[in-house]
Amino acid sequence: MNNFVFQVPTKVCYGEYLSSTALEVVKELGANKPLVLTDKVLLEAGILKDILATLGAEPVVFSDVPADSDVDCVNSAAELGRSKGCDSVIAVGGGSVMDTAKAVNICLSMGGDIMDYQGLNVLQERLKPFVAIPTTSGTGSEVSFVAMVKDNRDLRKLVFGSRFLAPDAALLDPTLLVSLPPRLTAATGLDALTHSIESMVATITNSPFTDALSIEASRLIFQYLPTATKNGDDMEARGATLVASTMAGAAFTNAGVGIIHALAHATGARFKTHHGITNAVYLSHGMRFNLEYSSAIYARLARALGFSSSLDDNECSEALIERVEKLLDDVGLPHDLRALGVPKMIGDQLNEWANLVLEDPAIIFNPREASLEDVIGIYERAY
Ligand SMILES: NC(=O)c1ccc[n+]([C@@H]2O[C@H](COP(=O)([O-])OP(=O)(O)OC[C@H]3O[C@@H](n4cnc5c(N)ncnc54)[C@H](O)[C@@H]3O)[C@@H](O)[C@H]2O)c1
Ligand SMILES: [Fe+2]
Repeated sequence: MNNFVFQVPTKVCYGEYLSSTALEVVKELGANKPLVLTDKVLLEAGILKDILATLGAEPVVFSDVPADSDVDCVNSAAELGRSKGCDSVIAVGGGSVMDTAKAVNICLSMGGDIMDYQGLNVLQERLKPFVAIPTTSGTGSEVSFVAMVKDNRDLRKLVFGSRFLAPDAALLDPTLLVSLPPRLTAATGLDALTHSIESMVATITNSPFTDALSIEASRLIFQYLPTATKNGDDMEARGATLVASTMAGAAFTNAGVGIIHALAHATGARFKTHHGITNAVYLSHGMRFNLEYSSAIYARLARALGFSSSLDDNECSEALIERVEKLLDDVGLPHDLRALGVPKMIGDQLNEWANLVLEDPAIIFNPREASLEDVIGIYERAY
């Protein structure tokens, strides 16, 4: 077995209507004036009603977080928090809101320019109390050590990675996800499944702890994602997929992701495709690329999911990849990049994009090293 370190510093709480306890949780953490980050869709849908009701007459709310938010948004929200004397942060939203809130907390806690903190383990100090309340079931940002925000100047995602970015508490409230539309439910579920599978094959950094989380998260996603997608108010399916995404988040933040995420990051930054849907399209292609190195692991996962024990490792792996492709059909997601509106790249544009994939930090953990030609090959098969 590898040497490993495994940690989940975040206190994880699950329960229907739990989000209304956010202020109590902030107070337990020694603070009492939170800056609440969210987005307009969630605010207008009334998802924050119960949370805001507990925050007094004038809660400090920043609701201008766009999908795949950026450094300018981080600076504006931090300015609001500073001007109102906020001593903590509550994020209510999907990965875009939670990642933005992590970056805002760096600004509020450390001062200075957010750009000084990008990279891995630059941040070495505790930040202000931070509570994450996810409204999608995919990113795992509510327990992860990572935040990604866009630098609009060169259309690239900046990565901030430090265990001090893990929220102090994650409140998993499945009632907040009832309004999540089918396509986003499916897409974020596939993001979580990609976290599970990539963290299992990240064999330098994974551990029995991360494998256990990945296997159970995968089982819950295969079992419940189709129902959560088709019947958004099925609380059992919502709860199972929400818990699965947090488990997968705990797995990948310790073990890493891989080439599928590197492809999705570069594609999303260039062509504004949704992170989860982009992972979904690349997932089977990335799994096939890693097959030679990962078939024993895929087979272990497939057998844990109940696939026939009479199949050998290669047959199990192929069956798992086909099962992933079928899941996309079951939840109504496309199989190719063309359907996401990604243009057909050729020549210099394609090479430049493929280099972005190879420079992405996620690729470090992939079990098989990829060349420029390999990345281009996956793009062409996924197109
Ligand atoms: N930090 C991490 O560990 C990590 C991991 C994976 C992805 N990410 C990042 O997360 C982002 C993607 O996050 P996401 O997939 O959660 O999507 P998102 O946060 O971008 O949200 C997508 C859309 O869904 C809407 N929405 C969210 N919850 C809703 C609800 N309950 N009801 C109705 N509408 C709702 C939002 O308003 C938004 O328009 C990307 O920027 C990605 O890079 C971060
Ligand atoms: Fe992801």
